[in-house]
Amino acid sequence: MDTYAQRLLVSDPLREPYIRSAIRVLQLPQGSRGLDAGCGIGLQAPLLAEAVGPAGHITGLDLSPGFLVHAREIAEKAALSERIAFQQGDVSKLPFDDDTFDWAWSADCVGYAPGEPVPLVKELARVVKPGGIVAVIAWSSQQLLPGYPLLEARLNATTAGIAPFVCGMRPQSHFLRALGWLRDGGLEEVTARTFVGDVQAPLSDDIHSALTALFQMRWPGVQSEVSPEDWAEYQRLCQPESPDFILNLTDYYAFFTETLFHGKVLR
Ligand SMILES: C[S@@+](CC[C@H](N)C(=O)[O-])C[C@H]1O[C@@H](n2cnc3c(N)ncnc32)[C@H](O)[C@@H]1O
Repeated sequence: MDTYAQRLLVSDPLREPYIRSAIRVLQLPQGSRGLDAGCGIGLQAPLLAEAVGPAGHITGLDLSPGFLVHAREIAEKAALSERIAFQQGDVSKLPFDDDTFDWAWSADCVGYAPGEPVPLVKELARVVKPGGIVAVIAWSSQQLLPGYPLLEARLNATTAGIAPFVCGMRPQSHFLRALGWLRDGGLEEVTARTFVGDVQAPLSDDIHSALTALFQMRWPGVQSEVSPEDWAEYQRLCQPESPDFILNLTDYYAFFTETLFHGKVLR
């Protein structure tokens, strides 16, 4: 498994509880057929399959054939291969006919994508039957370095830290403006909801590893964009081998949010 895929897997215990909550909010119909667009290594397809029950079906789609190998393994281990299929493809040009699915879901993919989001929403809506839901969820904020809000703000103000709010994007295309781009993509009854995950010391081994992976995913390559003092402080607090690794604080507390935008296809 490549490093990025490994980090997605290791950080999943942080996300799974609120991804489950987000899926519950959608009230996906039992027995429905859905698309997981940009499914990555398939961490959410089993949760979506569980939500639609044994008569339902999920198609996971991703650009990366390597990720799909892991996705198939995860579905097989969960004994869900019959109910989940994976296919390589591009969300901007979905290899499906109009009205193929009852709903479409995209986690940390459509909301992260560089370029204009509206054509991607239209493409998701095209393959969903009238009355079905298009749902887009992405990381929206965090407080991971308690006691160091200015350092965290400066790390977040780097190119990597500010993802998924891609630099140079029109304000209207920013993820937190998705109410607008879902409406512009032709969806009705557009709704937003933010889900919070939080953790506190003492951390279990799983959550400790998940947060360590998250630090590496949130602020990769920040060195060239922060001062030498901030870089040294970042290393002191965020490197597992440091004696001052922040996750070892006995009063460690952190939270993070993902925001779900969804709307209905009514044509
Ligand atoms: C941050 S990962 C999220 C994966 C998964 N949805 C999750 O939440 O664990 C983004 C995924 O989107 C995929 N991706 C990026 N652009 C894509 C595109 N144009 N079409 C399909 N997949 C894409 C990447 O290969 C990657 O697996």
